[in-house]
Amino acid sequence: MTTARGLFVTFEGGEGAGKSTQIRLLAEALRARGHTVLTTREPGGSAGAEALRHVLLSGAAEPFGVRMEALLFAAARADHLDCVIRPALSRGEIVLCDRFVDSSRVYQGVTGNIEPPLMAALERVSIGATMPDVTLVLDLPAAVGLQRARRRAGASTEGATPDRFEKEKLEIHEKRRQGFLDIAAREPERCRVLDASLDVDHIARDILSEVVLVIARQAGSDRDGQAARS
Ligand code: TYD
Repeated sequence: MTTARGLFVTFEGGEGAGKSTQIRLLAEALRARGHTVLTTREPGGSAGAEALRHVLLSGAAEPFGVRMEALLFAAARADHLDCVIRPALSRGEIVLCDRFVDSSRVYQGVTGNIEPPLMAALERVSIGATMPDVTLVLDLPAAVGLQRARRRAGASTEGATPDRFEKEKLEIHEKRRQGFLDIAAREPERCRVLDASLDVDHIARDILSEVVLVIARQAGSDRDGQAARS
């Protein structure tokens, strides 16, 4: 089942907040209701963006500074939108994306200290008018998230070193948490904050009811639009 203009849902939050688990559960629940769902992630999600993901997460771009990294995140996002996200939305699919523009606003803008005019320019060229319909912010105290992320890295990939972003200090993670909360407060129409310390199934139920509501609202406004045109 597809909708008239697709639905773009993004997941944001710090490390260890459980985004990938919640994306998997939401995708399963929506597919069980008959929707066509595409799951994807940033940085990455398209061939060009995955190549940049490797450059960014390996730390290879780090010596060139935060501005260079911000440009690469934006370039990856532009390719991802062109090659994967917009085509899926125009087919009427539901797109669930692990991180999107709010991660740049927080990681590069807030804790990378990139000046707001550059962030705004990068946003304009990378996403244009394609903002998410819904952004789910999984909120967790930084210490808990970092502990979870470390446990996961140790348990699932023996001997693997955390990426360069995961090595950063607790204080920075708290600033990022606040950064996501500030965005959600500024854009309450788009953003929903969820307490990521609650039980996984509880969060999954809240997310599903939120998204189902938005789908129903969208269908309602499409019907109203059609009725007005006819
Ligand atoms: P990833 O391994 O996908 O981890 P996570 O589970 O935290 O999503 O790593 C992505 C890293 O890239 C993460 O530390 C956040 C960072 N990032 C940015 O700094 N800016 C961005 O625009 C995006 C999308 C991610």
